[in-house]
This record gives sequence, structure tokens and C-alpha cells, in this order.
Amino acid sequence: MSKGKFYITTPIYYPSDKLHIGHAYCTVATDAMARYKRLCGCDVMFLTGTDEHGMKIEDKASQAGVTPKQYVDNIVEGPRGVKDLWKLMNISNDRFIRTTDDYHVAAIQRIFKKLHDNGDIYKGKYVGKYCKPCESFWTESQLVDGKCPDCGRPVVDAEEEAYFFRLSKYADKVRDLLENTDFLEPRSRVNEMVNNFIKPGLEDLCVSRTSFTWGIPVDFDPGHVVYVWVDALSNYITALGYGNDKYHDYEKYWPADVHFVGKEIVRFHAIIWPAMLMSLGEPLPKKVYGHGWLNFGGEKMSKSRGNVVDPYILAEKFGVDALRFFMLRTFPFGADGNFTNELLIQTINTDLANDLGNLVSRTTAMANKYFPEGLPAGCGTWDEPTEPDKELQAAASGLRDKYEAEMEKFQFQNALEEVFRVIQRANKYIDENAPWTLAKDMQANGKRLAHVLYNLLETTRICGVLLTPFMPESMDKLFRQIGAPADGQTWDSAAVWGALPEQVCPQKGENLFPRIDMEKELAELEKLQAPAKPAVETEPLAAENVDFDTFCKSDFRAVKVKNCQPVKKSEKLLCFTLDDGTGTDRQILSGIARWYKPEDLIGKTLVAIVNLPPRKMMGLASNGMLISAVHKEKGEEKLNLLIVDDAIPAGAKLC
Ligand code: MSP
Repeated sequence: MSKGKFYITTPIYYPSDKLHIGHAYCTVATDAMARYKRLCGCDVMFLTGTDEHGMKIEDKASQAGVTPKQYVDNIVEGPRGVKDLWKLMNISNDRFIRTTDDYHVAAIQRIFKKLHDNGDIYKGKYVGKYCKPCESFWTESQLVDGKCPDCGRPVVDAEEEAYFFRLSKYADKVRDLLENTDFLEPRSRVNEMVNNFIKPGLEDLCVSRTSFTWGIPVDFDPGHVVYVWVDALSNYITALGYGNDKYHDYEKYWPADVHFVGKEIVRFHAIIWPAMLMSLGEPLPKKVYGHGWLNFGGEKMSKSRGNVVDPYILAEKFGVDALRFFMLRTFPFGADGNFTNELLIQTINTDLANDLGNLVSRTTAMANKYFPEGLPAGCGTWDEPTEPDKELQAAASGLRDKYEAEMEKFQFQNALEEVFRVIQRANKYIDENAPWTLAKDMQANGKRLAHVLYNLLETTRICGVLLTPFMPESMDKLFRQIGAPADGQTWDSAAVWGALPEQVCPQKGENLFPRIDMEKELAELEKLQAPAKPAVETEPLAAENVDFDTFCKSDFRAVKVKNCQPVKKSEKLLCFTLDDGTGTDRQILSGIARWYKPEDLIGKTLVAIVNLPPRKMMGLASNGMLISAVHKEKGEEKLNLLIVDDAIPAGAKLC
């Protein structure tokens, strides 16, 4: 019996480049959630797709010398494209929408017209800033240091006749939605939205463009194309049949139960999207969940930063299930996580090879050896259960509820933690019962041995059911190995101790998760991933902002090098005598002897921070610090002093 419907979506991806493992993160999470809901008995609709319009795609296509449609076709449908990647990752989406699909195009034109006809879209003049890579318009006040607040890249001036959506009209309603309901999660994202976007005043949104053509034409005003976010957000309803005749599931599945989205696009989903739906008079999605980023080397993984990790390489090496599992086991879904190859291998070795893999292989091997014909009838019960028996049974039969509570909050990491706690308990149970010792006297202990093995198999089965949404293929193999009937592994069975038939006959099979040789694989990955790595590695940008007043307290000055000498007995330090414009020489010690010869620096103008408290190094006083730039090249640390134009006089303040 169906336990109701569940409609879940991923963002639809820009096919401007091949997808990386950061993109796969959200889709794998959505897939695990969709599979979990199906397991629970829900009628699930899982939608994903591609967002194919906009200036960025037009530019990329022209650089490649193809039409925009040819360009996106290749990335979506072509070899190792979006669809291939989802197949590889075993993504079980029910529908895939492309915003270039005819039915979607026609539906967007209807939606735009409806918003226009009800007075929420009007014609005006757009004057402002535009970030090409993000395809976002910004007002002057939203820029950060004159750059795009999302990606930090330069923006361009834009002025043209355009249509506007009356977003301002919905400001209060949207604020109420965010502050007084649990529409947006995690809760921290609500403050971000309200403080950064709503409190400063929600301006009307520019929703059409005339400066490029690769978009959905506004049918009642040729020359205008629909703003890509209006086009993209609407996919969630057009894919169900809203405004078109291709599908007929709108009544059944809308409103969405949850939209999973990356944190940088929460703004579109939590402000613009509800306002559009309010204007259309349609119900709002029940929830938007803004997940964190998968970072690499401390920064968001992205093609433009050159730090992308190729999911094909990892899946081919370690298996799709291990990769899926790693992403959701290691990082809390709402926060950022730093991807490293070491962490991936360590997680596979610890959780999958050691804990789960060992439990399955030890249990099935012992069952095969001691009971080759299968466990005897009656092995499921024991008259006087021991403490470990009781503990294991209680842990396994109470697991489903704990897991469910975490899954319902999208806390995949915690749900998996619960499962692995039981797996670890089961491994301990093997040691507590020492089945190999019991087996020495089958006459006396055979019955007890069969019961111990039954308890282990049943615990493994329950864990297997709950791990299925994360590792579907491996759990199929696991069920075969422990002898559990494939069709019996239901949600209900996960809460019923003893659902495994007593006369079960496990078959030890291939090792589900072979242990990985960390050193060897890291070296191989280093080679395989080398082209994807940036040649130059820089320090991650500071996560915390420093307030302006604090920053202003630092006194940076231009200083001229009057003399520079190595410091005796130190391999690192150089001692500088500097003209700082005050008329009194300033002495600063700097640990840069590895990179500079003292004589090469005499006469140069450098930058120093001069209001640090004095320090003593090798018995010499240092009054300040010279500023240099550091980065890594091929793993080696490089340093360059900040040498500035000689025309800058000593003592000039830098601000
Ligand atoms: N096309 C829009 C979404 C429109 S939805 C109506 C878009 N596409 S995207 O391809 O740039 O990003 C798709 C999703 O991938 C976003 O949710 C984004 O946050 C996510 N990720 C891209 N890189 C990521 C990481 N490194 N880590 C986690 N998620 C990341 O935005």
C-alpha cells in the first residue's frame, strides 16, 4: 500500500562543461532519499535534468564553433555526458527534463504570459550589473568589492529595455514564509536570506533580455528572451505537465516535498521561486534544503578554479557504491566538506572493508564451514539469551526507527552512523561468542553456534536493508551472500527481528569491498588526476570576514631596503635595515633566506606591516613584518616578496 506521494528534485545542471563530483554530490543525495522513500512505500517522483539556456552557453558554443543546441546536446547526451554520468552513478530518476524540450519551452511562454497578464510582469529599463558566468543581475549595492557576490568575478554594466517581475510586492509574504515556517532548511540559511536579500529591500527582478538570443523567446514581444532563472525554476512544474500536455502528473505530485539545492542557489529557490508561484496562484513547495559544497583543497570544486575531481576515475577505481557511500557518510549534508583522496580511501577501508565487509565475510564463511547445508530449524530462538544476544537484537531491531528519524531530517551522515554502530556491535558479538571455539565441539555447542550465526546474519540483513538506498548494487550482492530472499527485504522487514528464515543457507562470495592499498592508490590517483589539478596551489581564502575597522588598524607602509644581511647561525633569516619614511631606520627580520640573496634586495621598495609588537629572533629585534605572496608549485612552497614600484616613496601608507 502506498504511503503517499513524495516529489523530490535536484537542481537542473548547466551543461556548460562536463559535470564533476561536486555536482554528483547533490544528485547522489537525492537518489538516496528517493530510494529510501520508495523503500518506505511512497509513490516517488524524482526529477533531474539540465538547464540549457543563457548567455554563457551561447558564448561557449560560439567558441567551440557549434550551435548552442549542438553544444548542449553533446554535453547532455554525448559520451561521458550528464546522462551517462547519472547512469554510472546508478541514479534512479523518474524523469529527466531539458529546458530546450519543446513542451517546456511552450509552458514557459504560457507562464511568462500569465505573470504578465496578472500585472506582475511589466516593461521597464534595466540598468545595472551583470555577472556573465553566474547569469545573475546585481544592483550596485549587492556587489562585493565591485564584483559578483556569488563568484567574486568582475561584472559588466548592462542597460537595456527589459521586463521586470514585481518581486518587491512579495517581500513581506516571502519573509513570513522564511521566518515563520520551516520552508527553508537548514535554519542558518534563513538568516542569510533575510539579512542579505530581504532586509536591504527586495527589488523587482529583471526577467527578460534582448542582448542575446539563446533563450526562450517572449512570444508576445519578439526580441526578448526569458531570464534563464525564470525558465529554469519553472522546470519543477513543467516536468509534471504544468502549462503543457506532455505530462499529466501536476495534480498528483505538486507541491514538491523537497527541492535539494546547493547553498549558492538557495536565493533563487527560497525567494524568487515562491514569489513566482504566489503570483501564479500555485501551491508552494513544502521545503527547500540548501546543502553545502564539496570543496577540494579548501575551495568549492569548480571547473573555473581548476580543482575538479572526475567521478569516472573514482568510480572505476573504487566502485560506484563506495563513492556514493563516501559522499553521504563523510560530510554533514547541510555543511561544506573537504574532499580528499585520503579521506575517500580511509572511509572505504574503515567502514566498508573492515566493518561491513568483515562482518559479511566472517559470518558467511563460518556459516558455510560449520553448516554447509544451511542453518538448522529452531536456530532463531534461544531459551536464555545472553546479555550480548539481547544487546545485539535490541540494537538491530531498534535501528530502523533511529535511521528513519535521521533520514526524515536529511541527515544522511547520522543515519549511516546509526547503521555502522550496529555493524560494529555485531563484529564485537563475533569476538564475544568466538564461534570457532564453539565449533570445536559441535555435539555440545552446535545449537548455540547456529543461534550465534543466525543472530549475525539477521543483524546483517537489517543493516543491508537500510543501506540499500546508499549502495543498491552491493546490498543485492550482500543479500545473495547471506541467503536472504531478494524480494523479502522490505521496509517492514527491517523492523522485525527474525524475518530471515531460520534454515537460511548463506554463500560466501566475492569480497564486497576489498581493502585498498592507500599508498599505492594515492600515487596512482595523483597521476590520473594530475591534469585536473591546478599547476599552482594557493592557500584557501579565509572563511571568516574581518570587519573593516579591524582591517584598518593594520598599518602597511612602503619601505626601502637600505641594507640586508644573513643572520648568523640561521638558515632562514635575513636582517633588513629599512627606510620607513620616519627618518629612523627600522630593523625587520624575515625568514626568506631560502628564496632571496640579500644583495639582490638592496634598494628595492617592499611592503611591511609596521605596527606589530616587536619580536626577538636569534637575539635580534624585529619591528614589523615584510609582506610576501606564498603558493605551492608541484608541491613545493614558493615565496615572492611584495616588491613595489620605486616611485612609491618610503613611508607611504597602503590603504
Ligand atoms: N542551473 C542551475 C540550477 C537551476 S535549478 C532550477 C545551476 N546549475 S549548476 O550546474 O551550476 O549547479 C547545479 C548544482 O550543483 C547546484 O546546486 C550547485 O550547488 C551544485 N554544485 C556545483 N558544484 C558543487 C560542489 N563543488 N559541491 C556541491 N554542490 C555543487 O546552478
